[in-house]
Amino acid sequence: MSFSISIAQARQQVNGIIVVVTAAEVTAGLRTEVAATVADCTAGVDLNSLFKTLQFTGKAGQSCMQVLNSTPVVFVGVGDLDKKADENRETLRRALGSGCNQLRSLEAAHILVCLPEEKPFGVPRATYLEQVATVLTIAQYRFVEFKKDKKVWEPAVFIAHSTTADLAALQIGFMIGSAMNKARSWADMPGNHMYPSILAQKAIDIATEHKLAYKVIEQDEARDMGMGCFYSVAKGSIHPGKIVVLEYTPAGISDAPVIALVGKGVCFDTGGISLKPSNYMTGMKYDMSGAAAVFASMEIIAQLKPNVKVVGIAPLVENMPSGHASKQDDVVVAMNGVSVEIDNTDAEGRLILSDALCYVQKHYNPAVVIDIATLTGSCAATFGPFYAGLMTRDEELSAELSEIGRFVGDKVWPLPLTDEYQPAIESAVADISNSGSPTYKAGAITAGLFLDHFIDKGRRWAHLDIAGVDSKIPGTTYLGKGATGTGVRLMVEFVRRYKKG
Ligand code: BES
Ligand code: MN
Ligand code: ZN
Repeated sequence: MSFSISIAQARQQVNGIIVVVTAAEVTAGLRTEVAATVADCTAGVDLNSLFKTLQFTGKAGQSCMQVLNSTPVVFVGVGDLDKKADENRETLRRALGSGCNQLRSLEAAHILVCLPEEKPFGVPRATYLEQVATVLTIAQYRFVEFKKDKKVWEPAVFIAHSTTADLAALQIGFMIGSAMNKARSWADMPGNHMYPSILAQKAIDIATEHKLAYKVIEQDEARDMGMGCFYSVAKGSIHPGKIVVLEYTPAGISDAPVIALVGKGVCFDTGGISLKPSNYMTGMKYDMSGAAAVFASMEIIAQLKPNVKVVGIAPLVENMPSGHASKQDDVVVAMNGVSVEIDNTDAEGRLILSDALCYVQKHYNPAVVIDIATLTGSCAATFGPFYAGLMTRDEELSAELSEIGRFVGDKVWPLPLTDEYQPAIESAVADISNSGSPTYKAGAITAGLFLDHFIDKGRRWAHLDIAGVDSKIPGTTYLGKGATGTGVRLMVEFVRRYKKG
């Protein structure tokens, strides 16, 4: 059986129930419709005293499980839902995640989810259900590729009190979550099983399945096109680098504006000749999370069919030390003619992105460019696991992306991108240096400023540094131990909302 989400179904099949309850409902009793749905389980049970015995108050983060009429029922608390709507939705996500985690251990095959009243979540019903379906889908994901026991919990999930009118929203939410899980499985895949040609093939598979145009630029072609920065990183590995371009074109609109999504795809980052100490190298298989997010976003966009053209591009490399690798002090030239002194081969993300940014602007003249990259340890140190860094000179874009991030639960927070930091990337021998001078610190910002040298004047552009949020998020019940699929919901929602002009 495989994982699915649908509207409410025959109650008899269900062998696990998640009931989301507010603190008020714990005191005053379940809502009538919820009480009716679980009546066969709760018949003769005094819930009030049960909750008391279990010391369950319904506050956010609390849950309790009871087998009632031979059905495991998990009550998950969401507290008073008295915060901002965006925060209430995050509370709900975590409650659903902990409900799933409890039923996973019981391997319930058919589960029923009783949701709380919609009002505190401040979004239309369709959005609400879509987001619920997404979180239930991502909560289900586990990376078991290399386990002897590859069993994953794949329940059929029924949403109580939903009707055929809700089906479309649930399906979209499920589709988004499934694409995120795909991105997560690529990122979780270790470097010896996930190098540029393999990741490129994943993108091609998406393009083929969803009828997207695509192109793969090989390492030597990239060099011949003048992508000296990309090439300088790619050439160090036995696995040739590739640049993958996926194109979604809306039917029947010839002058649709273009949105470009650019993802960093370093399949493994050893640091190169500027080798990382081993304790910093562990986890660097996740350094292609930006590329994975772009590919997954393209898969979703291909199915949502918005009225805007979208180009997803990702430079894919492995950053290795070798006889062919770039060295400190090397100077290379990007596609737009800007020369770069390689002060540190571990600042490779910005090198491969620079040429991808040049390429996509030159060939597609995008109205907006968004790049997404596990770019700096500095950003991870700044925000920890809950916000991606957002850098842009465009205040409107900054506000829009910040709002969308809160809306979908894929949060970003702005950092300044101003010229005061420019001297940090000055070079004595080239136009700029690839690593920010320690005098200025602010590594996330100086990396953003580096990328800015490859953005055409006047082009709308935002840079997302996801170094802290790509994997291993503590305490977030609906995410497992590994990759998160961060940025997918943000980019997809940006595309969905995009209006010309
Ligand atoms: N992939 C790393 C950034 C990173 C660090 C991501 C930790 C996730 C967790 C990136 O390529 C890198 O090595 N950045 C250097 C840049 C420095 C050499 C200028 C960094 O942040 O230390
Ligand atoms: Mn690096
Ligand atoms: Zn890197």
